[in-house]
Amino acid sequence: MTYVVTDNCIKCKYMDCVEVCPVDCFYEGENMLVIHPDECIDCGVCEPECPAEAIVPDTGLGLESWLELNAKYASIWPNISVKREPPVDAKEFDGVPNKLEQFFSPKPGQGDAMNERDDERGRAKSPPMNAGHPIPGQNS
Ligand code: SF4
Ligand code: F3S
Repeated sequence: MTYVVTDNCIKCKYMDCVEVCPVDCFYEGENMLVIHPDECIDCGVCEPECPAEAIVPDTGLGLESWLELNAKYASIWPNISVKREPPVDAKEFDGVPNKLEQFFSPKPGQGDAMNERDDERGRAKSPPMNAGHPIPGQNS
């Protein structure tokens, strides 16, 4: 068993959930988060923290496709354990039906990397390998 993030997270992305997860098993897409089913320890702490009520145990009916989506994108998207500001229009999208069909983005979110980069304590852990030194032969 695991918990899964479902439709109403899309374009709400409040991120309150990441602050309470004891095992940091949330992963960030462009406009929603997912839970890694193999890392979630089923503690249930995140469920009541979500203002959009988007987190549910996977034991509910009809959640197989959401479990698949969570598993798929948790292996692709970056980890997130630090909450940032939610989208400015998050409230307007709270409760809008069928967000998966209308708004889901498979693109990754920024994860915690940007927080580290913005962190006044230091530099990013992994600066781009070619920072300031374009690689010869690459036209980017
Ligand atoms: Fe994290 Fe617990 Fe929520 Fe699983 S149920 S995602 S371990 S807070
Ligand atoms: Fe999404 Fe709710 Fe977390 S809206 S980002 S699951 S707090």
